[in-house]
Amino acid sequence: MDDPAAALKREAGEQAALLVENGMVVGLGTGSTAAFVIAALGRRIQEGLKFTAIATSEHSAAQASKLGITLTDFGHHDGIDLTIDGADEIERKSLNLIKGLGGALLREKIVAAASRRLVIIADERKLVRHLGEHTAVPVEVTPFAWEATAHRLGRLGARVSPRHDRDDSLFVTDGGNLILDCNFGVIEDPATLERRIGEIVGVIESGLFIGRAALVLVAGADGVARFEPA
Ligand code: A5P
Repeated sequence: MDDPAAALKREAGEQAALLVENGMVVGLGTGSTAAFVIAALGRRIQEGLKFTAIATSEHSAAQASKLGITLTDFGHHDGIDLTIDGADEIERKSLNLIKGLGGALLREKIVAAASRRLVIIADERKLVRHLGEHTAVPVEVTPFAWEATAHRLGRLGARVSPRHDRDDSLFVTDGGNLILDCNFGVIEDPATLERRIGEIVGVIESGLFIGRAALVLVAGADGVARFEPA
């Protein structure tokens, strides 16, 4: 099915791809918006741009290598100059994020944490007043005893749904873990929630990204708006 926001995602992605400079180590995000960045970077390589990249998912790595982007890893670099990634919700005022509907939140967070600059790209539907307005918080958990972990997440106030694949089996991440989608409703204090989720044994990471975005590019009917932390 055609994505009605595809043109906006492409616009944001193409602008962000212009931020990549020769010699950089670049973090490649995951999802339909990040795919436009990777495509644009593939075209810039044809024009002579030289950089190496670390991908946040097997899917993005496969797209990047097909386009001739040289992939590297943390064995060769202890940091990343610039990461460009999508998001599922962006809180307008704080630029805090929910990520992980694409299932890549753990690698995305590791890459974001190692990045000197995280640029988030999105279409305008992703901007919200408060995180949790439309989206549950994806939480990556170990498969062992996931039901017990789900129970504890429920005690934090979430309605918890294990994520499934189309064939109804449990969705498994690139790291071999499971995702529990935790609907907290509107989240008043995302930083505290991130910490409390992280304290639960069995939780690997949550899709709450607090204070990580250095720049957010949001494409809408009137062009691409830039948001930076206050
Ligand atoms: C992947 O795990 C996510 O964090 C994505 O960045 C997020 O789901 C955005 O995806 P779209 O660009 O496809 O909306």
